[in-house]
Amino acid sequence: MNWKERYILGCMPMDDMHKEFIDRVNALAAASDSLALGALEDLFEHSERHFAQENLWMRESGFPPLQCHIDEHARVQASLQSIIQMVKKGNPGLGKIVAREMESWFDHHAATMDTALARHMRHVGYSSRHQQDS
Ligand SMILES: [Fe+2]
Repeated sequence: MNWKERYILGCMPMDDMHKEFIDRVNALAAASDSLALGALEDLFEHSERHFAQENLWMRESGFPPLQCHIDEHARVQASLQSIIQMVKKGNPGLGKIVAREMESWFDHHAATMDTALARHMRHVGYSSRHQQDS
């Protein structure tokens, strides 16, 4: 999965988080069967930080479709968790399938919900304040 120009949403902490997401997905795609579980757990651990950060930005900046975006993050985490259980039961090949699914999920999610959030934060002046604070 390659980083694309259109993934730059103009909110640096979010862009950095998304680069890290792509790195984790690529590590999962490249993982051999014996490393698939660890790579999936790494991706899940990343998703906890990534989504918690975005959920916090949404709450603090008063993002209107907040619940819709939070629910989508929760759905992705629930499916990652169930895949982790299946891999633990001896189905390591699922790792590569999840990596492909995550690629198309992210492509759409970044273009819709994350784009809307980045625009909203800019609009209300939240993003720049956050970047000065961090
Ligand atoms: Fe998001």
